[in-house]
Formats: sequence, structure tokens, C-alpha cells
Amino acid sequence: MKIFIEGGRRLKGEAQAGGAKNSALPLLAATLLTDDEVILRQIPNVEDVRTMLKMLERLGKSIVALDHTTYSIRSHGKLCSTAPFELVKKMRASFVVLGPLLVRLGQAEVPLPGGCVIGQRPVDFHLKGLQALGARAELINGVVHAQAEKLSPTEIYLDFPSVGATEQLMMTAALIPGLTTIHNPAHEPEVYDLANLLMKMGAGVTIEPTKFIMEGVDKLKGTDHEIIPDRMTAGTYLVAGAITHSEIFVRCHPAHLEPVLSKMREMGLEFQANSEGVQLWGQPYRSVELETRPYPGFPTDLQPQMTALLALASGESLVKETLFENRFSHVPELVRMSANIRVVGNTALVKGVDHLEGTAVQATDIRAGAALVLAGLAARGTTTVVDPGYIARGYENLPSELRKLGAAIMIEDDKGGET
Ligand code: EPZ
Repeated sequence: MKIFIEGGRRLKGEAQAGGAKNSALPLLAATLLTDDEVILRQIPNVEDVRTMLKMLERLGKSIVALDHTTYSIRSHGKLCSTAPFELVKKMRASFVVLGPLLVRLGQAEVPLPGGCVIGQRPVDFHLKGLQALGARAELINGVVHAQAEKLSPTEIYLDFPSVGATEQLMMTAALIPGLTTIHNPAHEPEVYDLANLLMKMGAGVTIEPTKFIMEGVDKLKGTDHEIIPDRMTAGTYLVAGAITHSEIFVRCHPAHLEPVLSKMREMGLEFQANSEGVQLWGQPYRSVELETRPYPGFPTDLQPQMTALLALASGESLVKETLFENRFSHVPELVRMSANIRVVGNTALVKGVDHLEGTAVQATDIRAGAALVLAGLAARGTTTVVDPGYIARGYENLPSELRKLGAAIMIEDDKGGET
């Protein structure tokens, strides 16, 4: 499959960010914590969500789609404690089913998720936290075997505010009667979305700046919950507007994008944010220094897109990636498009150029692929993004959404069909 983009077009109109992929995945896993019906709304139709839904079915859940973004999930019989290798391999985020299965069944077998192109991505914080709660977890032939006759409330200290480890431990503690404190947790909006779901299901969650206090209960009940909009999709559309000097409106939850809007304002871009979303006026923009950090720092999942934007800024920018050890795979591809970027350690030195040249480029992960599409919108001539399948893992029809805004973009599938 390939995406072809004819660059140089102005965009206009309104883009809508769907439900957040990185909320949908942990919140779907949280349905394992009860046999009651849980209804989740605004679930995005992306590859990773389809993988997680398959995972839940294999673990004993029956899933009914009430409409194209609403799912009713309930147990049909006893849950299965073993997560299938091929699904965990496909989507590492499914590793967060470990804690819910363990706390429900007293045991769980989940394959160790591999690393990926952006980094080795270990799960030691997850396992240390579960062990602190009283679990035994050992790695046998690449599968984490966890057992726990009894899990007890305790104090857990995370070495790093890991999003996945925080979510894994919140879900586990929600079904351990008593108070469990998670120190140094992640504060991403998607983590707060999970906290809201767990509270609706009957757990207590007190959020403080340096810790979460989980009040676990014997049994959690079903509920009905609408997940938050996807701030990464919204941010990607804002970069699409900025890189093409366009005037667009992005329907989203602006508060979640504040770290991104403040950085883009520093670049000289102008916005108007209201309760519905963000209006962008696409002025010329200048270079900045950018460093990715846990929320409310600048989000790593928008770093590739911003690097593409800065490739065309006036002046020299510094982009420092502190979350993942190898998240600059988009840089060599941008350089093939005549960007002037040099990576030294975990920092990209970006010298703005006055134009990019369309050519064939290789997508390597969700956000790098999106960054190359954005660069193609601004480049002279045609940009061909090879292997854009990664993009579909995290974006609902990014090409068709951009086409609605006026982009000249076409998808050629493997059989040569075009959409
Ligand atoms: C979540 O991944 C997101 N995925 C990622 O989005 C996002 O980039 C990341 O958080 C950081 O914000 C989902 O929510 C499904 P971490 P996660 O645990 O939970 C290290 C996207 O494009 N670490 O906060 O895996 C880890 O290696 C994806 O949508 C350990 O060392 O991220 C990394 O360097 C990409 N040991 C850092 O912490 C652990 O046990 C942050 O990882 C866990 C993590």
C-alpha cells in the first residue's frame, strides 16, 4: 500500500478528532475487571483497537457494536487467563491485560511485548508494581507467568511516570480492597480518563500531584462511559494546517493540547481555542527549542510531526526526545525530502529550509508515518509514503480526513486500487 500526496495545496474547513486511541486501549482492558456490561463510547475505529477487541473476545468477553464507535462489552462465562502471543506481539499496549486478569483469576500468562522501532520499551515497572502488590511474576519462554493467591494494598513507587505501568497498577489496585498508593504516576489525560472509568465502576481514585490513592473494592460494576477525544490526532491536524499555512478549525478538547498550543504560539502561530476546539490561522512560523516530557510536558507522540513542521521554519530548532531512545526514524526520510536535520544523541538539530521536495519515503511507526504525510502536504511535487499501514494503527482515515480539508492525497492499495 502507498499514499501519494501532491504538495503545495492550502487546506481549509474543519477536522474532527475522534476518540483517543491511547484511552480506548486501557479502558477496553479495564472491562476485564467486571462481568457486568460496560458500554464505551467514542471508541476510534483504528487497527490497534480492533486488535484489543479481538484480545478481549479471546479472553472471554462478548462484544456488541451498538454503533460505529460504541461497544457493549460483557463476560460470557469464565475469563481465560492466557493472552494469545500473536495479539500481544501485534500490539504491545495489550500487555495491560496482565493486571486485570491476575486480580480476577489469581493468575495470568501474557507474552512479553517486544520492543519496537522507537525503543526497547521494557515492562519492568509493571512487574515490580505487581510484585509489590504480592504477585509472583516470572518469565518463562518469553511469557510472563504471574500468580497471586492474595494481593494486598500497598505503597508503590514508580521509577518513572510510565503511562502503561500507571494504568496497569491502577486497574489491579481497583479490585484489591483497601488503599493502594501509586507514587510518581503518569498524569496524561488518558490516565485520568481511566481513573474516571474506574470510579464509575465503583473504585475510589484520589489524584494528587505526586501520587494516586486507589481505594480498591471486592467487586466492580458495569457502567457507561464516553472516552476523551484524541489529542494526538488533533495535534496532527493542527500541524497539517500550520505546515500548509492554512486556516482550519480542529474539533477537539483544547485543554489537553495546551502544551502543544503554547509551543506553537512560541513559533509565532496564532490560535483561538474555545470549548469546541481550536481555530488556527496559518502564518509563517519560526524555529524553537522543544523537549518531550511526560504530561504536562510536550508529548512525544507529536514530536515527529513537529520535527516535520520545524523543517520549514525560519531559523534553527532543537528537538530533544527524552521519552524513547530511538524516536527519530522519520528524520532520514525528511532529509530525503531535502530537510536539513542532524541527529546528535537524543537531539535533532533542525535548520529550516525554504522548501521540501516530494519523493518516496518510508513510514516506520504511527507518528513517523503521520509526520511524512504532513511533510508531503507542504513539499513541492509528489510524495509517496511507502508502508503507511502503520498510520492506520493510530489514525482513523488520516488521508481521507486531510482530503476533506482539500489535500491532494490518494491511497493505492496492494492490488493497485485507488481511493
Ligand atoms: C504510552 O506508551 C503510549 N501508548 C505511547 O504512544 C506514548 O508514546 C507513551 O505512553 C509515552 O507517553 C499507549 O498509551 C497505548 P511509557 P507506554 O510506559 O505506556 C520506559 C503512540 O504512538 N519504560 O510511559 O508504553 C519506556 O521504555 C504510542 O500512540 C520502562 O523503562 O509508555 C519509555 O522509554 C507510542 N519500563 C518510557 O518509560 C517500563 O516498565 C515511557 O514509556 C515501562 C516503560
